Amino acid sequence: MENVVQKKRILSGIQPSGDLTLGSYLGAIKNWAALADEYDCYYMLADMHTITVRQVPADLRRHTLTQVAAYIASGLDPEKNVLFVQSHVPAHAQLGWVLDCYTMFGELSRMTQFKDKSAKNADNINAGLFTYPALMAADILLYQADLVPVGHDQKQHVEICRDIANRFNGIYGDVFKIPEPYIPQVGARVMSLTSPENKMSKSDRDQNGCVYMLEKPEDIMRKFKKAVTDSDACVRFDPAGKPGVSNLMQIYSVATGKSFETIEAEFDGRGYGDFKKAVGESVVELLRPIREETERLLADKAYLESVYRAGAEKASYVANRTVSKVYKKVGFLAR
Ligand code: TRP
Repeated sequence: MENVVQKKRILSGIQPSGDLTLGSYLGAIKNWAALADEYDCYYMLADMHTITVRQVPADLRRHTLTQVAAYIASGLDPEKNVLFVQSHVPAHAQLGWVLDCYTMFGELSRMTQFKDKSAKNADNINAGLFTYPALMAADILLYQADLVPVGHDQKQHVEICRDIANRFNGIYGDVFKIPEPYIPQVGARVMSLTSPENKMSKSDRDQNGCVYMLEKPEDIMRKFKKAVTDSDACVRFDPAGKPGVSNLMQIYSVATGKSFETIEAEFDGRGYGDFKKAVGESVVELLRPIREETERLLADKAYLESVYRAGAEKASYVANRTVSKVYKKVGFLAR
């Protein structure tokens, strides 16, 4: 037993704030499935983060359950990965509060996402939206995670998490493992189909820019047919000069495993119409089995419940140990 090397631990999360996008699938979930053998993996549904923006309660519940099913359907085996819902593990709220008291107003004010989201939700700039990075730091530090797979937009939040952890450790000794961001290779960054300078996002106002993981094939095809390209009529990879075409090439490449050179050769002398149709079809076929499996799982509520219950139990076991340690360090009287 003694010479068994401890696997490194991974934690990541996605907010159940809507239907999962092709961007979250290609940029995150698809890659997660491959990590289970090498790492000890925890994947959270960050529902406590989601309520920083007003939600319709029934929708939040439905999105959360659907996301559990979609995680499993995407190949995240619940026997090999800990899949859990953040609000099922009270330790997140407990450590979140403590870390609020070790996070500075000034550093929170510098968070780009806070500035963006408060501009978008001017009528609801609540304290949770502001202190969100401290809760996210708690999410990560509770599990003593080594690596945090995130997109570029979350890198700043992992950095502030490291700052908070270092600050806390500086006062109380080695309590928290200092995590590293784990940014996927460039190929997986999926941009909007209608404004390819921006990340594909479910909060995009133009719904034609965003493809959903569980969307019907005919809707996926329609969106790809409408995708923005350029007037060169040439399929060539050049993200700065040809952002629309390059984004479609990236999607096609991840969906089919073909290299950019192969794709350029395949569409040499052919119009964008053919190209967009091929990309659409590759995405439809990539997502079809996942959609079908998600639907099958959603019909088996008892199974889904057993998955998130077991996940919450495993997650709580690890998280509660960290909370106990932290409570002792800060001087709370033991019960
Ligand atoms: N803030 C992340 C997002 O909006 C979601 C998230 C919450 C997260 N807690 C996390 C991601 C911990 C990684 C680790 O996308």
